Amino acid sequence: MITNEKLIKEAFEARENAYAPYSSFKVGAALLTESGTIYSGCNIENASYGETVCAERTAFFKAVSEGERRFLKIAIVGGKDGEKKVFAYPCGACRQVMSEFCGENFKIVLSDGEAVKVYTLNEILPLNFNSSVL
Ligand code: THU
Repeated sequence: MITNEKLIKEAFEARENAYAPYSSFKVGAALLTESGTIYSGCNIENASYGETVCAERTAFFKAVSEGERRFLKIAIVGGKDGEKKVFAYPCGACRQVMSEFCGENFKIVLSDGEAVKVYTLNEILPLNFNSSVL
């Protein structure tokens, strides 16, 4: 049983590898599969800013490319070094990627380093566009 605290710790470790020379906003994510494996990710920026990939999508794409399709929860942490702690809410694009592979009870675990907030995917992406209409 992987706790939220363990997943948050893994997200903070992944954040150490964030490549964010343009925004200085470093994000780490740790994604837990139904089978108990954790895939971590960090944001990876680019001089052509639009090519930046978020930490969450790095984690999802690592996992899916390894054959994983079933997920329980993701921990996300982020912020600028040495600045006020913040909760790093996932962007719209990452929420849409989550909706491709996760049900509405998939959990999003956020930590600012002190407090923890937990949301379901349905709470943060209601009325989503998905394969059911295709
Ligand atoms: N970022 C993430 O990694 N995840 C999000 O959900 C929001 C934003 C990254 C992208 C960029 O490198 C930096 O945070 C500032 O936008």
